[in-house]
Amino acid sequence: MSPDRLPLRPELRGQSPYGAPQLDVAVRLNTNENPYPPPPALAAEVRAQVAAAVATLNRYPDRDAKALRADLAGYLGHHTGHALSADRVWAANGSNEVLQQLLQAFGGPGRRALGFEPTYSMHRLIARGTGTSWVAGSRDPDTFALEPADAVAAVRRHAPDVVFLCSPNNPTATALDLETIAAVYDAASGAASGAASGAASGAASGAASGAASGMVIVDEAYAEFSRRPSAVALLTDRPRLVVTRTMSKAFAFAGARIGYLAADPAVVDALQLVRLPYHLSALTQAAARAALAHAEDTLRTVTALRDERDRLVGELRGVGLRVVDSDANFLLFGRFPDAGAIWRALLERGVLVRDVGLPGWLRVSAGLPVEGDAFLSAVKEVLG
Ligand SMILES: Cc1ncc(COP(=O)(O)O)c(C=O)c1O
Repeated sequence: MSPDRLPLRPELRGQSPYGAPQLDVAVRLNTNENPYPPPPALAAEVRAQVAAAVATLNRYPDRDAKALRADLAGYLGHHTGHALSADRVWAANGSNEVLQQLLQAFGGPGRRALGFEPTYSMHRLIARGTGTSWVAGSRDPDTFALEPADAVAAVRRHAPDVVFLCSPNNPTATALDLETIAAVYDAASGAASGAASGAASGAASGAASGAASGMVIVDEAYAEFSRRPSAVALLTDRPRLVVTRTMSKAFAFAGARIGYLAADPAVVDALQLVRLPYHLSALTQAAARAALAHAEDTLRTVTALRDERDRLVGELRGVGLRVVDSDANFLLFGRFPDAGAIWRALLERGVLVRDVGLPGWLRVSAGLPVEGDAFLSAVKEVLG
């Protein structure tokens, strides 16, 4: 039976769920995973810590995941060069859950979120799932860059309760500089004088709800691959700024489902109001702590993946394709008169990339060099 025949919320009727095809193909370069399996020492440590946690599974886990948050704060401080205390860090089952908790707390019915498309499609879907209305801002249609003036103008015009920035952005792989993020934050705080004039022009219908003082979420799922500094550098004195991260990409730990954020302690307190009790299992917490103890080993693959990304960019440009400058472990390439036909032709050759629904473009993840070779020869064959 179609769910539409159930008493489903009207805004969910006829909608499709998120889903990258999980096909059994030799070369899978469609979900921006890290292709390197966990190193043996890390795998051994995870096994040992999870085995130890099994002994007390009759008890609920630490609801506040204090030890894990301290470890995450330590990692983030080390990686970004900005020390953080554990009360500024929160963790959940993947950064998707962190984002959902943020919208449960700061979005919701009668509120709106702004994102700059094309961007990570889950931002829009989580908005929908939490009853938050979605406002689609745009990017430069050619370079997919987000110009600071355009971003600020959109924030002033729409006075959103939540602004999503994504850096590096999925699927374009473009990253933001700190000046752009700070300018968006100022606009969202109502600190910029134009916020009032935007409301006065009548364009910002929600300004009456005080929406000009919105939260700004910087989704940094791919930060470790970027050449730009992390927005963690901006957290001091910006209580409505949130930086979300994940262990799914650089850490090669997607299967364990751990995402986290750094923000003002008040944001972490706010999320306690919406998180489910004991949301992070004892096994997840143990596995994540074991993996963090081996961060340096895992992060060695980041260098290899950056090199592979740069090689793919060079090779694709070498055959005359356009490639958007990439700060991530994936890249957007095109332009094709019929991207769907190219996607299918690559699949026929055993290579799965992602059709993100952006006319003319396809997205490919940097994988193992041998996978990159297979992808490049399939591309060359398809282009004839
Ligand atoms: C931009 C971005 N944010 C967040 C996520 C979610 O990652 P996870 O829930 O695995 O932490 C992804 C996953 O692809 C992503 O591309």
